[in-house]
Amino acid sequence: MSGKGKKTVFTLLALLGAVIFLAGTSLADTCVTSKCHSGMGKADYVHGPVGAGQCVVCHTKGVKGHPTKHPERDFKFPAKGKALCYMCHQNKETEEFVHTPVGKGQCVACHDPHQSNAPKQLKADTVSALCFKCHENNKTVKKYVHGPVASGDCIVCHNPHTSPYKFQLEAQGDELCFLCHEDRKAEFTRKYVHKPAKENCLNCHDPHNTDYQFHLKAEGKNLCFRCHKKIAKWVSEATYQHGALQKGTCTTCHTPHSSNYPRQLKMAAKDICYSCHTEMGKKVRTSKYLHGPVQQNDCYACHNPHGSKNPKILKKYFPAEFYKPYKTDNYALCFGCHNKDIALDRITTRLTNFRNGDINLHYVHVNKKKGRSCKACHEVHAGNQPKHIRREVPFGKMWMLPVKYTKTETGGKCNVGCHKPKAYDRKKPVENK
Ligand code: HEC
Ligand code: HEC
Ligand code: HEC
Ligand code: HEC
Ligand code: HEC
Ligand code: HEC
Ligand code: HEC
Ligand code: HEC
Ligand code: HEC
Ligand code: HEC
Ligand code: HEC
Ligand code: HEC
Ligand code: HEC
Repeated sequence: MSGKGKKTVFTLLALLGAVIFLAGTSLADTCVTSKCHSGMGKADYVHGPVGAGQCVVCHTKGVKGHPTKHPERDFKFPAKGKALCYMCHQNKETEEFVHTPVGKGQCVACHDPHQSNAPKQLKADTVSALCFKCHENNKTVKKYVHGPVASGDCIVCHNPHTSPYKFQLEAQGDELCFLCHEDRKAEFTRKYVHKPAKENCLNCHDPHNTDYQFHLKAEGKNLCFRCHKKIAKWVSEATYQHGALQKGTCTTCHTPHSSNYPRQLKMAAKDICYSCHTEMGKKVRTSKYLHGPVQQNDCYACHNPHGSKNPKILKKYFPAEFYKPYKTDNYALCFGCHNKDIALDRITTRLTNFRNGDINLHYVHVNKKKGRSCKACHEVHAGNQPKHIRREVPFGKMWMLPVKYTKTETGGKCNVGCHKPKAYDRKKPVENK
């Protein structure tokens, strides 16, 4: 109620008191005169019965010696502590959570029983100043103070007396936040809701004040690492960090609240990597042949977006070099999906189609001290020749060797810078000169 409204009530009650007095019932008292208690009723907000001059409702007369220097000793209260107040006000202590001073009956620790210059006869100028009379102020001291806290409105969230919810809150969990952030609700109703956001906003946000933007309990990655310990360990132990995480944070790719895409990704898996790796995106979109997992937009089959022990944030080892002494383990990445024996035996009729008759050409190229890496011939992402044979092969740092590959029904032909044009045929072995 506004101060003006208060005064109207006061006036009405005063008027009522005056009428009763004039009628001679003497219920009203003459405690307030120019000599005695003259300040009563002069403050901005006056308690109803005080305004009506009904001192005797609370100060029962009849004890000797008034006036004295200690008038309160001469008057009895008809009831003690909060029971006095509950004579006229509703007792809501049936609610589960009762603010301690209310439970203890200390109504007058917060309210002046007579009058005050603050609404509701509060004993401090602002609500928060009242709260901080008893509570240590660790709520408005950090860098970012939440809107309603900054404006001293503790009681929009906390009932000063009682509530069905812990901390005498006005609503439970997320509902409390949505009392004001109604416009954000849609952000939490997408298909995939982050579990902690479903549970409680306070898992990440502080309701009062923090040192971090958006009232978060920690900054950047550290917020996520509070719960995602495995990823924290992974990231800290990764020899090769993903640039996206070095320069950005987890929310560069994930939404903290909810998403329409699995894993709370900000966009569809098929777009997320290309949103930064535009060259790669262009290459994939304009290529005729896409490698199986790339076709499926499954970049994570080979790369770990959170970093790795392997170069190029690869999930398994793959040599960066063009030449590498052969070891099956060197191609662990490829052999996670492909037959690991393709380069094992020199003579074969079944391990691979890259054969001239029964001579295994994978063996010939790959399985030696100065073996060629798969990427000497194959694109790993996309390309324009069958079997993902690349158009150019990097040789040294500067030079690109062109490769022209023609596939036939039973073999193929290579026109490369490495050697003279050569062909192979599985049915009728070719004699290359
Ligand atoms: C709603 C109950 C209530 C009414 C009505 C009321 N009082 Fe009081 N009064 C109290 C209470 C409770 C205390 C003790 C306050 C405390 O312990 O802080 C008190 C204390 C006092 C005191 C002593 C302490 C002080 O604040 O100076 C005086 C004097 C006093 N009242 C005068 C009056 C007069 C005069 C009126 C009428 C104009 C009046 N009261 C009406 C409840 C009331
Ligand atoms: C004799 C009845 C009576 C007693 C006893 C009484 N009150 Fe009141 N109180 C009223 C009336 C009447 C009003 C004015 C009604 C209104 O504004 O809604 C009022 C108003 C108030 C208000 C302001 C409410 C508002 O909405 O602005 C507060 C705070 C308050 N009382 C606290 C107390 C406290 C604390 C005590 C005990 C120390 C107490 N009251 C004892 C009758 C009483
Ligand atoms: C910790 C401080 C505190 C204590 C203790 C306290 N109040 Fe209040 N009370 C407030 C505040 C703050 C408001 C203002 C609420 C608002 O503006 O919505 C208030 C409002 C009121 C009102 C106005 C109506 C309402 O409910 O909003 C009444 C009546 C009231 N209190 C009575 C009491 C009584 C009776 C007691 C003791 C049983 C008591 N208060 C104890 C802080 C307190
Ligand atoms: C007269 C002293 C006093 C005032 C004024 C006061 N409180 Fe309290 N409050 C206490 C005490 C005592 C406790 C219980 C001890 C504790 O947990 O700190 C308490 C507990 C609380 C709790 C629950 C804390 C918990 O850990 O369970 C909240 C929330 C709270 N107060 C909020 C407020 C708000 C908001 C205000 C201002 C409207 C306020 N208090 C004003 C004395 C006070
Ligand atoms: C936006 C709503 C909101 C506002 C405004 C707010 N609080 Fe709180 N407060 C909460 C919530 C939610 C909790 C429970 C925190 C938790 O569960 O960790 C809480 C907890 C508390 C506690 C108990 C735990 C603690 O942190 O000490 C106190 C005391 C408290 N608030 C006092 C205040 C005071 C004083 C103000 C005003 C300066 C205030 N609050 C303003 C929402 C709010
Ligand atoms: C009483 C209204 C109210 C309640 C309840 C409330 N807020 Fe706020 N909140 C505000 C206001 C006002 C702002 C400041 C306006 C702004 O910056 O958009 C704000 C700002 C924020 C911001 C920062 C927004 C930004 O863009 O910087 C976050 C985060 C936030 N609130 C989270 C919460 C959470 C979590 C809860 C529940 C614990 C909550 N709020 C409850 C009123 C409220
Ligand atoms: C898992 C942690 C987490 C949880 C739980 C969480 N948030 Fe957030 N929230 C964030 C982060 C991180 C941001 C910063 C925005 C960003 O990086 O996209 C944020 C930002 C916000 C903002 C400001 C957004 C803006 O862009 O201005 C509001 C408002 C907000 N959160 C409200 C809520 C509400 C309401 C809840 C509970 C329903 C909630 N949050 C739960 C982590 C969380
Ligand atoms: C309060 C703890 C907590 C915080 C803080 C937190 N998370 Fe989570 N997160 C979880 C829980 C719990 C799950 C669900 C795990 C499950 O279902 O196995 C989850 C799941 C996820 C998932 C996987 C969803 C899926 O579909 O598998 C992603 C991605 C994620 N969080 C990212 C983040 C990011 C990014 C942040 C920081 C902005 C963050 N989390 C902060 C607790 C948290
Ligand atoms: C470059 C984009 C990107 C960044 C940055 C990123 N993630 Fe992810 N994250 C992904 C992708 C993509 C997936 C899905 C991978 C999959 O499905 O195999 C994922 C999956 C997850 C998962 C669920 C699967 C799992 O591995 O448990 C969690 C949890 C997760 N991320 C947390 C985080 C955290 C925490 C950070 C910050 C340290 C972070 N992410 C940074 C892209 C990213
Ligand atoms: C927010 C931008 C961003 C997103 C999204 C992103 N990256 Fe990156 N990525 C980078 C940056 C920056 C580097 C550091 C190297 C650079 O500048 O190219 C990098 C490096 C890499 C590297 C290693 C390159 C090298 O030379 O070591 C690979 C592989 C990679 N990203 C794959 C991915 C995959 C897969 C995804 C999708 C899950 C993805 N990236 C999403 C920004 C991003
Ligand atoms: C079959 C495994 C595999 C898949 C699937 C895969 N990559 Fe790669 N990626 C690699 C290998 C191996 C390298 C290292 C190539 C090299 O050393 O020349 C690499 C390198 C990269 C690089 C660094 C390029 C450079 O020139 O250094 C980026 C960026 C990249 N990949 C992004 C992606 C994106 C985006 C996807 C999903 C469309 C994806 N990768 C899918 C295996 C894969
Ligand atoms: C995540 C599984 C996976 C990984 C890892 C993988 N591939 Fe593949 N690869 C496939 C799938 C699926 C196909 C498509 C098979 C088909 O169309 O029959 C394919 C096709 C190929 C083809 C063409 C085969 C054909 O018959 O058309 C070549 C060549 C190839 N991959 C090479 C590689 C190399 C080199 C690596 C390591 C850098 C690698 N792959 C890693 C899944 C994978
Ligand atoms: C000297 C070039 C060259 C190198 C090096 C090479 N390949 Fe191939 N690979 C080919 C050719 C050519 C084919 C096509 C055979 C056909 O179908 O006629 C092929 C076919 C394949 C196929 C399809 C299945 C098959 O065996 O016919 C896979 C899978 C494959 N290669 C994986 C690899 C892997 C993994 C490596 C590295 C360990 C590798 N290749 C190294 C040239 C090469």
